[in-house]
Amino acid sequence: MSRILALHGTASSLVIEHLPQGAPLWRWWGPRLPEHGVPLHAAAEARYVPPSSLEQELPPSLLPTFGVGGFGQAALLAHRHGQQFAQHFDACAVRQEPGALHLTLRDTVAALQVELSLSLDAQDVLRIDTRLVNEGHTPLALQWLASATLPLPAHARCVRSLHGQWSHEFRCHDDALGPSTWLRQNHRGRTAHDGFPGALVLAEGTGAHAGTAWGAQLAWSGNSRQCIEPREDGGWLWQLGEWLAPGELYLPPGEAYQAPPLVAACSTQGTNGVMRAFHAAARATVRWPGGTMAPRPVHLNTWEAVYFNHDEAALRELATEAAALGVERFVLDDGWFHGRRDDARALGDWWPDAQKYPQGLAPLAAHVQSLGLQFGLWVEPEMVSPDSELYRAHPDWALQLAGRPLLTARQQLVLDLARPEVAEHLFGRLDSLLASLPIAYLKWDMNRDLTTAGHDGRAAYHGQVHALYALLARLREHHPGVEIESCASGGARIDLGILPHVQRFWTSDNNDARSRVAIQRGALQFMPPELLGAHVGAERSHTTGRSQALAFRAAVALPLHLGVEADLRRLDAAARAELAGWIALYKQLRGRLHGAPLWLGEAGDGIVWQAHGDAASALLFVYRLEPTAQRFSPALRMPWVDAQHRYVLRRLCGAAQGALPGWGRSPLHDALDAQGAVVPGAWLREAGFELPRLTGESALLLEVNKV
Ligand code: GLA
Repeated sequence: MSRILALHGTASSLVIEHLPQGAPLWRWWGPRLPEHGVPLHAAAEARYVPPSSLEQELPPSLLPTFGVGGFGQAALLAHRHGQQFAQHFDACAVRQEPGALHLTLRDTVAALQVELSLSLDAQDVLRIDTRLVNEGHTPLALQWLASATLPLPAHARCVRSLHGQWSHEFRCHDDALGPSTWLRQNHRGRTAHDGFPGALVLAEGTGAHAGTAWGAQLAWSGNSRQCIEPREDGGWLWQLGEWLAPGELYLPPGEAYQAPPLVAACSTQGTNGVMRAFHAAARATVRWPGGTMAPRPVHLNTWEAVYFNHDEAALRELATEAAALGVERFVLDDGWFHGRRDDARALGDWWPDAQKYPQGLAPLAAHVQSLGLQFGLWVEPEMVSPDSELYRAHPDWALQLAGRPLLTARQQLVLDLARPEVAEHLFGRLDSLLASLPIAYLKWDMNRDLTTAGHDGRAAYHGQVHALYALLARLREHHPGVEIESCASGGARIDLGILPHVQRFWTSDNNDARSRVAIQRGALQFMPPELLGAHVGAERSHTTGRSQALAFRAAVALPLHLGVEADLRRLDAAARAELAGWIALYKQLRGRLHGAPLWLGEAGDGIVWQAHGDAASALLFVYRLEPTAQRFSPALRMPWVDAQHRYVLRRLCGAAQGALPGWGRSPLHDALDAQGAVVPGAWLREAGFELPRLTGESALLLEVNKV
C-alpha cells in the first residue's frame, strides 16, 4: 500500500501519510489538489532534526498522544490505575473505499484500539468518527478522546466562534490566532447558549465569498471542548471532542467509547462555502417523517400570546384567527398540564390541567383539526419541578450528588434519564399523550443547565445525552409521523447530534427582528434555514421592549421556518390583512427558500443581505437595521450570478409588503415594481446593484432571475 492516502471532494482534498508504526500523519486538509498532484515522496524525506530536539521529532498526526515523543495537546488521555498513561500505536491497518478511509490503530502495550473513519463527499463534507476500544483486562480511565485533530496551515489567521446568552444566541466573535492555545469549553451539560460545539477558521484575507475557510462542528448535545494549538512549523492543530468530567468514563474491559462524530468542511469560497457544506451535512442528517421534507407549515405558537394563562375558549378563538390568516400548525405551549400556573411548579405532571381543560385537550385539538390545522404540544420531559406530583413520588429521580446542594434553575431540576425507570416512565407518559391525542408535533423544551449531575455518585453528563437520544429515538420509532422541535430556553440545543431526532430548532426566544438578524445569520452559518424556527412576534418585543413595523418583522422571519407568536385577537383588520399577505408570500416562496444554496453578505453602510437560490434564480433579502449614514445607498454585489448572462430584478411585493419610500426611488427602482430592472450579470457581480434608499429597520425582497 502507498504511504500517501488521499480523499478528494469537489473543492477540497485531504492527504495523510500512513506509517507502519504510529498514527498516520496529516499532510493536507484544504483546497482541492489534482488527483495526481499529491507528491508520492514520504514526508519524511523533507524532514530534518531541528536543534535541541528528539531525533524522532513527530510531525502532526491524526491522533497525537502524550508521553512517547508528543509534546502538544494529545488526542487521547487515559490510564489504568495510573499506569499506561503514555500511548503509542504500534500498528495501523488501513481499509480504503471510495470516498472513505478506515484506520485501525492498535497500542498493544496499553491494550487499546482506536478506530478512525474519515469520509469526504462531493459536497466537501468531511466526517470523522473515532471509537476507542479497551482491549485490556482492567478498566481504562478515559479523560479525553478527541473526535478529531485537524491540521490548519500557517496562513490561518483567526477563529470565529459563537457566544451568547438567553435570547442572544449565535453571536459571532473573531479571535486572532497567536502563539497561545485558543480554547473553548462547555461544561453546562447541554449545548448551551454560549457553548456551540464548532467554529470557523479564516485564512488571511478570507471573507464571506472568497478565500480559504475551514469549519468544524461536533454532532453532540452535551459538554464539549475545542482548542487550536500552534504547531512547531507555524501551522495549527484544531481539536474538538466531548469534555469529560473527572472520573466520568471508566471503560470496562471489552467496552468502547464512541466520540461525538465531527463534521467539517474546507472551502475557497469563503465562509459561505463552508456554510453550504454544513447545510448539505444537516440536510443529509435530518430524518423527515415519510422520508422527504413536507413544505414547512406556518406555526402559531401560543407562548407570547397567552403565556400560562390558558383559557380554552380564548385558545379556540386564537386558533380560529390563526386559520383565517393561513396558519397551518397550532402549537400549544407551556401552561397546559396539571398545576402549571407559572414556571415555579408542575414539570413532570404531564396530564392536562383539569381546571383549565375539564374535558382534557381532545376538544381543543379537535377544534384545531377542524380548522385544517395540525395540533402541536409543548413538553419539557427531562425536567421535574420540586413542587410536582412526580417529584413528591420520586425525589431520587432528579440528578443529584449526596451531600451537595440541589441547585435549581427556573425552579426546576433535571431528571436522571440514564435510570431505566425514569426513561421508561417518560416514554410511557409521552407515548400515552401521543396515542390519545392527534398530536402532529412536539415542541421539546429543555430549560436549564446541568449541575450536581450525579448518577450513583459518578458524573452523569455523557450518559444523560445518550439516554436523551435513546428516548427520542424510541418515541420516533413508535410515532414516526410526529415531528419534534428541539428547544432549550430558545436556541441552547441546536446541533447535529440531536438533529437525527428532530425536524426544527427553536432559534431564540428573542422575536425582536433587529436582534434576530444577527442571531439568525449566526445560526445559518451552521444550520439551513428550513430547520430554524422564526416567528413574527408582537409589535413591541417581549424580550427587548423595542417596537418594529410588521413588514420588517415578517421579512426577517420569512426565509426561515415561519411562525407567528402573538395574540392575533388584538390585531386590527389592517394588521391581519398584512400578516395574511406575508403568510401567503411565505407559502409561495418556501419551496425556493428551503433546500436551496444560501449566500450571506454585507453591502456596507449597515446593509446585510441573504440570497437563497442559484445563478438561474434567487430570492434576495436586503435588511437595513440603522438609518443610512450616507447620501447614496451602496451597491450590492451578487457573487452568485453568472457573468455571462443578463438578469432581471423584480421586487416581490403585494399589498402586504408596502411601497418603497418615495424619496428613495429612481427610474431603475421604479422598474423593480414594473417590468423589472435588467442588468448584466458581470455588472451585478463586480459593480453591484445600486440599492434604493431604505429607511432604518426595513427590508427589501428581490427576485433575481437569469434572462
Ligand atoms: C422556553 C422556550 C419558550 C417557551 C418557554 C415556555 O423559554 O424557549 O419558547 O416555550 O420555555 O416555558
